[in-house]
Amino acid sequence: MLLLLLLFEGLCCPGENTAVPQALQSYRLAAEEPLAFRMLQTSSFANHSWAHSEGSGWLGDLQTHGWDTALGTIRYLKPWSHGNFSQQELKNLQSLLQLYFHGFTRVVQAYAGHFQFEYPFEIQISAGCRMNAPQIFLNVAYQGLDFLSLQGISWEPSPGAGIRAQNVCKELNRYLDFKEILQSLLGHTCPRFLAGLMEGGESELKRKVKPEAWLSRGPSARPGRLLLVCHVSGFYPKSVWVMWMRGEQEQRGTQRGDVLPNADETWWIFHLSHPDLFDCDSYPGHTGCT
Ligand SMILES: *[C@@H]1O[C@H](CO)[C@@H](O)[C@H](O)[C@H]1NC(C)=O
Ligand SMILES: *[C@@H]1O[C@H](CO)[C@@H](O)[C@H](O)[C@H]1NC(C)=O
Repeated sequence: MLLLLLLFEGLCCPGENTAVPQALQSYRLAAEEPLAFRMLQTSSFANHSWAHSEGSGWLGDLQTHGWDTALGTIRYLKPWSHGNFSQQELKNLQSLLQLYFHGFTRVVQAYAGHFQFEYPFEIQISAGCRMNAPQIFLNVAYQGLDFLSLQGISWEPSPGAGIRAQNVCKELNRYLDFKEILQSLLGHTCPRFLAGLMEGGESELKRKVKPEAWLSRGPSARPGRLLLVCHVSGFYPKSVWVMWMRGEQEQRGTQRGDVLPNADETWWIFHLSHPDLFDCDSYPGHTGCT
């Protein structure tokens, strides 16, 4: 492994004792979205009598809240997760969420047959507010695909979601009170809460953590070729640019994984070298070549 590191130092990832891996010297920030507070819900319906929901709250990519399904309580995951809301206001929100989760399950079970939802199925909801316009969002997915969303004052089916989504929207659009409650929660309560969270979470949101990088052998090198995986892990924020270099030249045709979360609220990514980058004639006797 050490030999490998020495061989390819300067190409991708030097050892962990080097301050800034060369491959990361040119990491740049992607265009940043306005910061959002979002509540995520995943509800699984196994049959007409069994359902399970999970809920969580997120400030940007930091999880700030969980939902304890058994107790029906909000879990505050950060010291600043209360924002600037009073205990009473948070208790009211908790009661509202208890009613909501209970009611959601019952309503979906009751209407599943009518709208031809086929068991088992899963519904995901992402709802919240952003600092800048468009301020509020509420998106619903059915079986992992966009299904419908709240657009201004009306529920709209997602493109391609079909007649079923149209029918559900038609039904939802009849309930004006429900829309008003949502608009008040997302349009008034949520931005106030978001502002409080942003103050409390500012230092965590602004932190910068440098990654570690290391190499391993790739999954299936072709005979005579050495495929290497560059791992880059432990960075924050999420935006990162990793590339394989040969000298000053970026290598094209390499394969990059998605940026994925670590458990400690940092991110990691892997990046495969180009299969033609390393041939074993140049590195005889290397373990990756035998
Ligand atoms: C419903 O699904 C649950 C969870 O998979 C299962 O334990 C239960 O036996 C099912 N009930 C019926 C009536 O099919
Ligand atoms: C919390 O902070 C926001 C933004 O500074 C403010 O609008 C709001 O009134 C504060 N208090 C409460 C209880 O929301």
